[in-house]
Amino acid sequence: MMHNLLFYYLLFVGLVAAENGRQAWLRYAPLPRGHSTPTLPSTILALNSSASSPVYTAGQELQKGIQGIFGKRLSVHATGKQASSAVVGTASQFQKLFGSNPVKDELIEDGFWLNVKGGTVQILGQNERGALYGAFEYLSMLAQGNFSNVEYATNPAAPIRWVNSWDNMDGSIERGFAGKSVFFAGGHVASNLTRVSEYARLLSSIRINAVVVNNVNANFTTVNAENIAGVARIADVFRPYGIQLGLSLDFATPMKLGNLSTYDPLDSEVIAYWNAVTQQIYDHIFDFAGYLVKADSEGTPGPLVYNRTLADGANLFARALQPFGGIVMYRAFVYNQLPDEGDWKADRANAAVDYFQPLDGQFDDNVIIQIKYGPIDFQVREPASPLFANLPNTSTAIELQVAQEYLGQQCHLVYLPPLWRTILDFDLRVDNQSSLVRNVVTGERFKRPLGGSAAVVNVGLNDTWLGSHLAMSNLYAYGRLAWDWTSDSEEILQDWTRLTFGLDKTVVDTITQMSMASWPAYENYSGNLGEQTLTDILYTHFGPNPQTLDNTPWGQWTRADHTGIGMDRTVSTGTGFSGQYPPEVAAMYEDVETTPDDLLLWFHHVNYTQKLKSAKTVIQHFYDAHYEGAETAQRFVQMWQSLKGKVDDERFEDVLFRQSFQAGHSIVWRDAVVNFYNNVSGIPDDAGRVGHHPFRIEGENMVLSGYRPYAVTPFEAASNATAIVTTTNSTVGTATAMLDFASGVYDLAVNYFDLYGGNSTYQVFVNSRLIGEWIGNAVDIGKLGHSPSIYLDGHSATRITFPKVSIKRGDTLKIVGEANGVEPAPLDYVAVLPAGVVD
Ligand SMILES: *[C@@H]1O[C@H](CO)[C@@H](O)[C@H](O)[C@H]1NC(C)=O
Ligand SMILES: *[C@@H]1O[C@H](CO)[C@@H](O)[C@H](O)[C@H]1NC(C)=O
Ligand SMILES: *[C@@H]1O[C@H](CO)[C@@H](O)[C@H](O)[C@H]1NC(C)=O
Ligand SMILES: *[C@@H]1O[C@H](CO)[C@@H](O)[C@H](O)[C@H]1NC(C)=O
Ligand SMILES: *[C@@H]1O[C@H](CO)[C@@H](O)[C@H](O)[C@H]1NC(C)=O
Ligand SMILES: *[C@@H]1O[C@H](CO)[C@@H](O)[C@H](O)[C@H]1NC(C)=O
Ligand SMILES: *[C@@H]1O[C@H](CO)[C@@H](O)[C@H](O)[C@H]1NC(C)=O
Ligand SMILES: *[C@@H]1O[C@H](CO)[C@@H](O)[C@H](O)[C@H]1NC(C)=O
Ligand SMILES: *[C@@H]1O[C@H](CO)[C@@H](O)[C@H](O)[C@H]1NC(C)=O
Ligand SMILES: *[C@@H]1O[C@H](CO)[C@@H](O)[C@H](O)[C@H]1NC(C)=O
Ligand SMILES: *[C@@H]1O[C@H](CO)[C@@H](O)[C@H](O)[C@H]1NC(C)=O
Ligand SMILES: *[C@@H]1O[C@H](CO)[C@@H](O)[C@H](O)[C@H]1NC(C)=O
Repeated sequence: MMHNLLFYYLLFVGLVAAENGRQAWLRYAPLPRGHSTPTLPSTILALNSSASSPVYTAGQELQKGIQGIFGKRLSVHATGKQASSAVVGTASQFQKLFGSNPVKDELIEDGFWLNVKGGTVQILGQNERGALYGAFEYLSMLAQGNFSNVEYATNPAAPIRWVNSWDNMDGSIERGFAGKSVFFAGGHVASNLTRVSEYARLLSSIRINAVVVNNVNANFTTVNAENIAGVARIADVFRPYGIQLGLSLDFATPMKLGNLSTYDPLDSEVIAYWNAVTQQIYDHIFDFAGYLVKADSEGTPGPLVYNRTLADGANLFARALQPFGGIVMYRAFVYNQLPDEGDWKADRANAAVDYFQPLDGQFDDNVIIQIKYGPIDFQVREPASPLFANLPNTSTAIELQVAQEYLGQQCHLVYLPPLWRTILDFDLRVDNQSSLVRNVVTGERFKRPLGGSAAVVNVGLNDTWLGSHLAMSNLYAYGRLAWDWTSDSEEILQDWTRLTFGLDKTVVDTITQMSMASWPAYENYSGNLGEQTLTDILYTHFGPNPQTLDNTPWGQWTRADHTGIGMDRTVSTGTGFSGQYPPEVAAMYEDVETTPDDLLLWFHHVNYTQKLKSAKTVIQHFYDAHYEGAETAQRFVQMWQSLKGKVDDERFEDVLFRQSFQAGHSIVWRDAVVNFYNNVSGIPDDAGRVGHHPFRIEGENMVLSGYRPYAVTPFEAASNATAIVTTTNSTVGTATAMLDFASGVYDLAVNYFDLYGGNSTYQVFVNSRLIGEWIGNAVDIGKLGHSPSIYLDGHSATRITFPKVSIKRGDTLKIVGEANGVEPAPLDYVAVLPAGVVD
């Protein structure tokens, strides 16, 4: 054994081996040189030898983990009574074998007991799933070099800790940014489920207990015979990890698949249809978790079509599932009637309470209303949904997004737990009593038997799972928080970082600082003061496009005009939304003076010159915040660069690429938003930055050959509203300019547009010296997985920077762009930046 250990250490210690991210936080990497080895168990005793049992999985995982971390291979047994061993099983399995139950605290379902005394380790779950969680907890300690003796029990905050996948049967993923589905391909369940098994392992380590595998915009074919058999194979892969399978349904399936003439939830044939489908599912999947239903929402069919209530719709499924112990997660995201912006009192935010509050008490016990954290749709900041305060007689769950749909699509670093905590820690003051959202959704506040959370997670086949190594902290943290909403966001992040990147303190501190600063930075440059994410809501939800929020029926209005901005959601003069909260909270939001600045424009329509609590005007705050946010994003690049050599090259380069992209795109965001509101309000920036760019050379002001000016829409997505494009999309264009800057060393930043459907090539010269060349293909080859654009706009606008270029006054800058496909080598400007200048 000693021999093996030595060999192992010689092989790995000191090297930073390339990693692709597929092991995520379960790498079981050897500890750094110099770390002591604790007394380890001599064998593993896993109290169930059935390969489909989570206890068996736990035994295998302990073996794998201890071998990875310490190079010591322990044998796994199912029987025996060795003293110095790691025993993993349920408390009752232990009792049977040893005749005693050492668990000193009460365990509830999925809870576990961990008792580590040197090499004697007891990991006992209330059920098998809990035992597996305990094994992962012990391994997480070891992998972080934490060899403490411990003895404690831990129980989940809530029974529902689910993940929702928005995977389509054709293999695409709605809001997916990391390749195709791990579950489906070509209209069927994938034949190779290896990645599903790896995913289940990751999820079980963070105590997720069910996954809804298909999109809420469900295809009715999901429940045909072939697909039921297919998803049963997925359930088989999930089972050893203690994960149950759930399905999303199309409400109109009885008509579309069953050939009935109706899908009325009170029709007896419809009821019989769903009973039969449900029976068929349980015949294949005895531990099926239940259904997720998006009905009467964004065009999906539902009970309202038949003038039935949403409770009629939910109970239809609840009654089919009840005999088998299944549950219905019924989404509160119901707003089929699109509001009219001309009506000052119309408000999509009101819809959920308007629909659901009158039905409180009418839902069956196995119905859970799944409520998005805010009243609109996963924006960068929203108030807590008032529906959490309005359903005391109904079980509820909160819906979060690990998928960064409106939050940079995994191309911007945004660590989400601090955002989630603003909602979960919010006190709704129901009946003037403490009513934290987290205590509502766990069932504690209103004494509900069920409750919890669901997060939309968009993993794909990409090795990094989410397309971005750093984004994985959000998935990890979601599981940790769903277990205990009071866990500290920063401590979770540090655990994740140690497990993912190793124990080096500089690495841990740097990633912690970057991540903790990331949501505030993103909020600053993408839409602050409660204005929502000012993205393009009609197209890809990625880049800036503030005007798309207004003049549409989608109801994400800002009501910006030349004097003011914000939605008046007060009871006295506005939409009445603030009145949906209990009195104390309603009073706070009703009054502009007591509304926090960060939600000011959510609740009030004010002049741009309205003073904030900081004494700044609204418009000046916009300007300052957008500049500050973009500046923070530039610092992330330097911070990450400081880790070179401390992180393996493969992941280092991958993250560096993304951070550089974010730094450039944050400037696109900043400029677009400040230019837009500068244009609408006509109020200048006190600091003189907006519209003044002394270091920029605009493409349209260069000497052009084979290039022509192009007016960009929306105007604010290009500097001076204008880009240049090649005269045809098969030619080469040249743009030249004299560099009228003092001789010295500068960073050359080139802003261009990277469209989907073309791989233009670019070269930059100073005189005849080639400074750099690149291909505009980041979206075409999937290097950035965000939803692409085929236009010159805020989604495609991007920047590449060439650091430390020596120039002399009078030198000639030349850009040569060659069009490809639909992409006419579009170029916006070149910024010639002295050291330390961000522009
Ligand atoms: C062992 O696991 C199998 C499969 O999950 C299960 O059916 C069985 O009841 C378990 N045995 C014990 C003793 O818990
Ligand atoms: C080690 O892990 C235990 C259990 O999670 C925890 O309570 C303790 O704070 C950890 N110790 C250190 C030094 O991190
Ligand atoms: C539903 O699935 C079928 C079979 O794969 C496919 O032909 C159809 O296009 C899908 N419908 C939608 C709306 O995705
Ligand atoms: C299944 O997928 C895994 C992971 O991508 C791969 O390593 C393996 O070769 C595949 N197996 C088959 C039979 O294609
Ligand atoms: C529904 O009608 C189609 C086309 O007539 C047929 O192929 C299918 O078998 C029918 N399904 C059921 C459940 O009756
Ligand atoms: C639902 O009610 C509306 C208004 O009362 C009526 O016009 C419509 O025909 C009803 N629809 C159904 C399917 O009963
Ligand atoms: C809600 O529950 C409480 C207590 O369980 C009961 O008194 C009340 O009548 C219920 N309300 C409705 C609308 O069902
Ligand atoms: C907002 O501006 C308008 C137009 O300049 C002005 O009439 C109005 O009094 C201002 N409102 C407040 C509250 O300052
Ligand atoms: C802005 O673009 C126009 C052409 O669209 C050009 O004439 C003008 O010089 C540019 N202004 C600046 C400040 O670059
Ligand atoms: C761009 O390059 C990618 C990767 O080589 C290729 O798949 C794609 O077809 C190219 N696009 C065009 C328009 O040539
Ligand atoms: C995964 O994504 C990265 C970055 O988005 C990309 O460079 C890489 O090609 C992708 N790999 C796979 C296997 O899809
Ligand atoms: C050139 O662009 C046009 C319009 O964007 C497009 O229709 C055409 O297919 C492109 N040509 C090539 C060779 O891709």
